[in-house]
Amino acid sequence: MSSFRRFRRLRQNEAIRSFVRENELHASDFIYPVFAVAGKNMKVPVKSMPGICQYSLDRIDEEIDRVVAAGIPAILIFGIPDHKDDVASGAYDHHGVTQEAIRHIKERYPDLIIIADVCLCEYTSTGHCGMVDKKGYVMNDETLPLLTKTAVSMAEAGADIVAPSDMMDGRVAAIREGLDKAGFMLTPILSYSAKFASAYYGPFRDAAESAPKFGDRKSYQMDPANSREAMREIEDDLEEGADMIIVKPAMAYLDIMKEARRRFEVPLIAYNVSGEYAMIKAAAQNGWIDEKRITLETLTGMKRAGADRIITYHAIEAAGWLCE
Ligand code: PBG
Ligand code: ZN
Repeated sequence: MSSFRRFRRLRQNEAIRSFVRENELHASDFIYPVFAVAGKNMKVPVKSMPGICQYSLDRIDEEIDRVVAAGIPAILIFGIPDHKDDVASGAYDHHGVTQEAIRHIKERYPDLIIIADVCLCEYTSTGHCGMVDKKGYVMNDETLPLLTKTAVSMAEAGADIVAPSDMMDGRVAAIREGLDKAGFMLTPILSYSAKFASAYYGPFRDAAESAPKFGDRKSYQMDPANSREAMREIEDDLEEGADMIIVKPAMAYLDIMKEARRRFEVPLIAYNVSGEYAMIKAAAQNGWIDEKRITLETLTGMKRAGADRIITYHAIEAAGWLCE
């Protein structure tokens, strides 16, 4: 008689392993980011994100077709306008690139969930997520009305969900009030509640052409060293009316995800960000890692940590691998 446990009984073949598996990925777990660019006949590859392109509206269907065919239920849309200014007018322009993209996609693909990223950094001449004062400080309260206008404008265009990513204090309450006043009481807010000032956003800023022209985002995004503060951010966003929350980035922040899962009973979403994607792509292109296995292992780790859904640039490929 043996005096030890045989864990290997449940690992002996794939049928048994899959029978006792605790977490599984599905295409329905994924949200795919899409970049809509102003102009015509554009499909512009993002250098630091192999496989990701900016699309003009006349060509965006080829990308959305792939999303729908892969069984992915939702996209996160970002717009790259042809004009930037001090007050980010492109962000809340009825005919802005993002609004037109949302309208176009909603008409063609009514069942696809469109999540609109709500921020100003793609639309401000400074590249900051809010209005900037003379000293270069990003002003909080002055930014809130613009974010609110942006969220309402996205909802008017047909966005199913709005996702503020700016990290101004009080934005969820302001946006909720604005949406309700405009008649959008049923539009949910997915808040980037715990968003850290991360070097992992580098490739995205190429994709969205949204890098700050001076300084950094440390006065509004969170310090990567803090986890208790992340819980306060989430708590506060939920009190202000957030329906769902994001932890971002994901890979280096799985402890935050796990703690958020333990404390809050709301849908929790991981943002597997651009730098995480770029690192895997670069190593895979060098033949140093097995991209499929590394990616699925990474995404599984996010689910295991408690994420209900994952925003990932790997969504289409991962959905394909899961069908093999
Ligand atoms: C805009 C925004 C950013 C990301 C999502 N929305 C960039 C930033 O805050 O600089 C990052 C996404 C990624 O890296 O994949 N505020
Ligand atoms: Zn921003």
